[in-house]
Amino acid sequence: MSEAVIAQEFPYMTDLEAGKDYYWCSCGKSSKQPLCDGSHKGSDFTPVKFQVDKAKSYALCGCKRNDGQPFCNGAHNRL
Ligand code: FES
Repeated sequence: MSEAVIAQEFPYMTDLEAGKDYYWCSCGKSSKQPLCDGSHKGSDFTPVKFQVDKAKSYALCGCKRNDGQPFCNGAHNRL
């Protein structure tokens, strides 16, 4: 599998609504970061569907080195 593009080397603070389906971009090519815009088509990557329980601002991964998970775990600090 090819390596994802680093969209940015820090998380995207993103306001999310409770119970809504979101699709986090895992390939790094979306122009609507941190969410998928379909730019992964033809690649090995697929978006990651997720929801949140509480409406608030979340730190979503921008470096795409977070083991395929939408939420930042600090992986950008090891780039
Ligand atoms: S555009 Fe990156 S996963 Fe869809």
